[in-house]
Amino acid sequence: MKVYAKIAAIGAMVLGLAACSSGPKEILIGGVGPVTGAAATFGVSTKNAYEMAIAEWNAKGGVLGKQIKLDFADDKGDPTEGATVYTKLIQQDKVVAIVGTVMSKVSLAGAPICQAAGIPMISPTSTNPKVTQVGDYIFRACFIDPFQGTVGAQFSYNTLNAKKAGVLFDNGNDYDKGLAEYFQAEYTKLGGTVVDYEGYSTGATDFKAQLTKIVAQKPDVLYSPNYYQDDALIAKQARELGFKGPIVGGDGWDSPDLVKIGGSAVENCYFTNHYSKDDTRPIVQDFVKKYQAKYGEVPDALAALGYDAMNIMLDAIKRAGKTDGASIRDALKATDLAVVSGQVKFDANRDPIKSAVVIAIQNGQQVYKTTVNP
Ligand code: PHE
Repeated sequence: MKVYAKIAAIGAMVLGLAACSSGPKEILIGGVGPVTGAAATFGVSTKNAYEMAIAEWNAKGGVLGKQIKLDFADDKGDPTEGATVYTKLIQQDKVVAIVGTVMSKVSLAGAPICQAAGIPMISPTSTNPKVTQVGDYIFRACFIDPFQGTVGAQFSYNTLNAKKAGVLFDNGNDYDKGLAEYFQAEYTKLGGTVVDYEGYSTGATDFKAQLTKIVAQKPDVLYSPNYYQDDALIAKQARELGFKGPIVGGDGWDSPDLVKIGGSAVENCYFTNHYSKDDTRPIVQDFVKKYQAKYGEVPDALAALGYDAMNIMLDAIKRAGKTDGASIRDALKATDLAVVSGQVKFDANRDPIKSAVVIAIQNGQQVYKTTVNP
């Protein structure tokens, strides 16, 4: 009896070792996005896109002969929650890499955790420059805000012929604050005047005090570089206060909820973005068709970039030939891949150089206006 038990124990150990040396059957990838909270549509699109990209790779045999498994976590759009889920994915679940997250302020909480653990991270959509400055394990799939703010300023000044601008932004959000600054710098350089520059606190829903001051200065354009819930309310309240001019924003406007909340107030509004569903390149149209078939809606930029970021990560793991952090990081650095939002090659800061599009809201629909190259 004792002998048998010993043999059984040794047998189990040998099996265990064998299982260890061949490694787990799947490659576990962490995915992060805000599927609840103040920017929930961002997370829903992002998660859909991660899943779609992984399903496509798995159908073709996975990566390095293994299936890919998504370990998704909701950061709720909150930096503290973000730090908690990044730590859990790395320490407890032992993901090999993280694709995420969406909002710059939350990526700024997750990035130091990835960097310290030597786990490669690619944010699909965080545009604030500070995100990739955290370290050499941190990448992004999108352009950065110094460029996006410049495009917004040039479009306002040159195309809309607006010579006076008011700016209203969330003071507690790295993304909003950064974009407001980059807009102001370029707009002033072009010869425009920022007649009023106003901040508000995160979570505000009444912007009338700031808007009253701005409207009194008679700006030709209002720049609102915030997330869609705030932007829609700002548009409504600005219209109520009599402002009829164009309102311009950034990628944070991209949500099906923008028009639902803003209604007719978001007509005569424009925003800079990463992709347009109307782009005729086959890679874009193919993606739009597949996404629509799977989820029943037109993919927004969050979906496009979530899909791109996951594809960039899996392409890097395939080229790395192994799944340790340093090998994946080195392969990521060497990326040269055609994705939905353009051709991705990283500069020395691990930021891709990509073009932006300007989208107008017309009759409640997003209408492509122009593409701006860096
Ligand atoms: N760029 C935003 C940020 O950095 C996130 C975002 C991207 C939101 C694209 C909408 C669309 O916080």
